[in-house]
Amino acid sequence: MRTHYCGHLQEALVDQVVSVCGWIDRSRDHGGVIFLDVRDRTGIVQVVSDPVRTPDSYAIAGQVRNEYVVRVTGKVLARPIDSVNPKLSSGKIEVYADRIEILNGVHKSLPFLVSDTDNVREELRLKYRYLDLRSERLAHNLSLRCEVVRVIRRYLEDEWGFREVETPILCRSTPEGARDYLVPSRVHPGEWYALPQSPQLFKQLLMVGGWDRYYQIARCFRDEDLRADRQPEFTQLDMEMSFMSQEEILQLNEGLIRFIFQKIKGIDLPPFPRMTYKEAMDRYGCDRPDTRFGMELVDVSDLFVDSPFKVFSGALAAGGIVKVLPVPMGDSAISNTRIKPGGDLANLVAQYGAKGLAFIRVRPGQTLDAIGALKDGMSAEVKAELLRRTQAQDGHLLLFGAGERPIVNESLNRLRLALGKELGLIDENKINLLWVTDFPMFEWNSEENRLEAIHHPFTAPNPEDLQDGRPIGLETRALAYDLIFNGTEVGGGSLRIYQREVQEKVFQAIGLSEAEAQEKFGFLLDAFDFGTPPHGGIAYGLDRLVMLLAGVDSIRDVIAFPKTQQARDLLTDAPASVTDKQLKELHVKSVGQK
Ligand code: AMO
Repeated sequence: MRTHYCGHLQEALVDQVVSVCGWIDRSRDHGGVIFLDVRDRTGIVQVVSDPVRTPDSYAIAGQVRNEYVVRVTGKVLARPIDSVNPKLSSGKIEVYADRIEILNGVHKSLPFLVSDTDNVREELRLKYRYLDLRSERLAHNLSLRCEVVRVIRRYLEDEWGFREVETPILCRSTPEGARDYLVPSRVHPGEWYALPQSPQLFKQLLMVGGWDRYYQIARCFRDEDLRADRQPEFTQLDMEMSFMSQEEILQLNEGLIRFIFQKIKGIDLPPFPRMTYKEAMDRYGCDRPDTRFGMELVDVSDLFVDSPFKVFSGALAAGGIVKVLPVPMGDSAISNTRIKPGGDLANLVAQYGAKGLAFIRVRPGQTLDAIGALKDGMSAEVKAELLRRTQAQDGHLLLFGAGERPIVNESLNRLRLALGKELGLIDENKINLLWVTDFPMFEWNSEENRLEAIHHPFTAPNPEDLQDGRPIGLETRALAYDLIFNGTEVGGGSLRIYQREVQEKVFQAIGLSEAEAQEKFGFLLDAFDFGTPPHGGIAYGLDRLVMLLAGVDSIRDVIAFPKTQQARDLLTDAPASVTDKQLKELHVKSVGQK
């Protein structure tokens, strides 16, 4: 039906007769001459019809309305210089319509204008997603996504000999961190499949099966609390490799990300810096630091052990820490009311468990202006050391967090990000990629009084930490790594355990008995007895990667049919109830009510 896409029409086609198909983006009647913007997913072209030059199409041109589906045939002509539209890829030409065919009309009033979706509520755009998909914004983001995947395949298959393998969607439920989506079995009453949270176990089995250098653009399902960068079903670029060290895996992957930036953005990225987990937590209070700006946290615990300011010394006596967030120019930018109880900054840190914020203003001559007890209790040496460590200058505001380490870190991290944004310290054009390495193997689960694997229980411990018979425990580092892109975790992976005795030690450490381990992961442990190669891998959140490359704030903007923050598909209205007959067949009784 068509010879060209609208967005592909260029000056080189001047004087040729072309046919385009698409939707009416808008129409304008300029005193007898009708201009139609015809849109398809590649862009817009201007179509012209007037009673003198194109009498055959003129009557139809007057009938079309927004979003009518048309086929236009006509000659490509160069636009007069003063009507060139630099915003359109086809902006230097227009098509004189010899013929306009209406292929379909619009039979209801449009819920919004496709040409102007900026101020349309997201719920409405999600309900009529097929209309939103016609917008230039989504056309661009989804094309970019497709392009990124193409580039990934090229790098992995052509440069490194990776093979794509599909793994099952109906799986066994295994503990992996988030809650599973479950599917009842009709054939096996009372038994359930789980949708995969990631292809983790299958990709390890592929390594046992000799399918070295595996990758997959894999759909994953996690029933967890949603945020702007999380969806209940999302896509990973999942990879696993045998016979490669951590260093080789990081190099290969750094090459991949640089290849993507090169091909997609034309940017040559410098080598990615690396930071250990401990350093990231110390300096930023967070294991995915946004390193586009400074304002790093400073530990000043040792300065306040004997302080009469009980909030600090008390926190330290209870095993906590005191850290400072030094805010340049914060003295003039941030008022006391914002920091004191009830203020927005106090409320922000309270959300992360902090009881309050102490503060000091650094005034000309580097004199410190603090409130009450904090000022009174500080010796000249402590003041001088505080200024030295924080490198505070006149005009700085020092914000203090005191208490349990995780709470201080998380609350000051959030404060740092919020103030970095507010004070314009983040250069939005900067691209910072960073490897965070040396994660701990475990964290303490105080509810269950036991160690818990931070990654998953197949992550290999760092052999350096097990030398001289040292036991596996809280101090043991994992051979695990995350890739951080401007403060967002885009990927994470690890080397895996491939020796049974190491695996048993890890299971013991997390309090899993042999019988329980066999019950949960028997198939994997059995496979490990049949010659498992050393292996490791990584998975990227493809949606997150594309979101960051597209420069948008939500992964919903790079997914064709996303779900809301409440995990609902507004277009098909899923989830929805099912019939009693369906439930009966599945041997399931519903106790919940809609
Ligand atoms: P992990 O759980 O860290 O690792 O996931 C890998 C990456 O997937 C992305 N991601 C998500 N994206 C959108 N919505 C979600 N709900 C969501 N959850 C995670 C993140 C994350 O970095 N099997 C291991 C990988 C491995 O060890 O090889 C895994 O799944 O960008």
